[in-house]
Amino acid sequence: MFIVSTRQMLLDAQKNKYAVPAFNIHNLETAQVVIEAANEMKSPVILAATPGTIKFAGKDYLQSIVEIGSKKSKVPMAFHLDHHEEFKAIKESIDIGCKSVMIDASKYSFEENIEIVKSVVEYAHRFDVTVEAELGKLVGQEDDLVVEEKDSQLTNPKLAKIFVERTGIDSLAVAIGTAHGLYKSEPKLDYDRLNEIRNLVDIPLVLHGASGVPEESVKKCIGFGICKVNIATELKIPFSNAIKEYFKENPDANDPRKYFIPAKLAMKKVVVDKILMCKSNNRV
Ligand code: 13P
Repeated sequence: MFIVSTRQMLLDAQKNKYAVPAFNIHNLETAQVVIEAANEMKSPVILAATPGTIKFAGKDYLQSIVEIGSKKSKVPMAFHLDHHEEFKAIKESIDIGCKSVMIDASKYSFEENIEIVKSVVEYAHRFDVTVEAELGKLVGQEDDLVVEEKDSQLTNPKLAKIFVERTGIDSLAVAIGTAHGLYKSEPKLDYDRLNEIRNLVDIPLVLHGASGVPEESVKKCIGFGICKVNIATELKIPFSNAIKEYFKENPDANDPRKYFIPAKLAMKKVVVDKILMCKSNNRV
């Protein structure tokens, strides 16, 4: 196959009431885990990279890794820019073949958010690139993006309808009580709000901050119209814990070809579980 935009993927998920998982990757090894698991599970998949990851690994390296992975794959695969705030960085990635982007202008006023998102949509759609944007603000930390509790804001359904109509985006990230990073206690999700948004907005809806959200809650969100589920933190933990464990047992070890093996296996288990949670397995 080849890299695709998220348009068809998400529309199929919306029609058939499942969600496409979007896994944050950081390097070759984490991308390989996601690609391998998605193929084994016959699941469409999105590999996502934040600006921090792009800075760490390089947009061209990451784009190429996913492109090669998609050529070897039998499942639809998208490389997606997660939480990008700068038009310039988005444009540079589109120019080298990225087909799916998120412009996150949620820290600005409603009108400013609309104007920024509109300009990205205008550019991206010329190249058949899909655009996700966010209305409302999730509490927590995703790389360099930090939102304090006092600044967080749930999505207003009526404004969501206006936002979608005026921006022309392809998918909408909603704030309904999830958070980026780990939770101190079980999150209370606002299903009524999600349902109201779903009734007013017909494009695919995206759930950020899915790490640590109980499986049943995510499934309920999918029932209420979530078509893309973002997972980052819950993959980093098993990957790094397995490496810590490996060095505890092998204090003199120094070979990444060895210590990455248990890390990849531990991460893969979680990727498989999340695919099952999203009910995206056996879709291709
Ligand atoms: P978590 O790190 O909480 O899984 O959030 C991931 C996310 O929403 C990426 O955009």
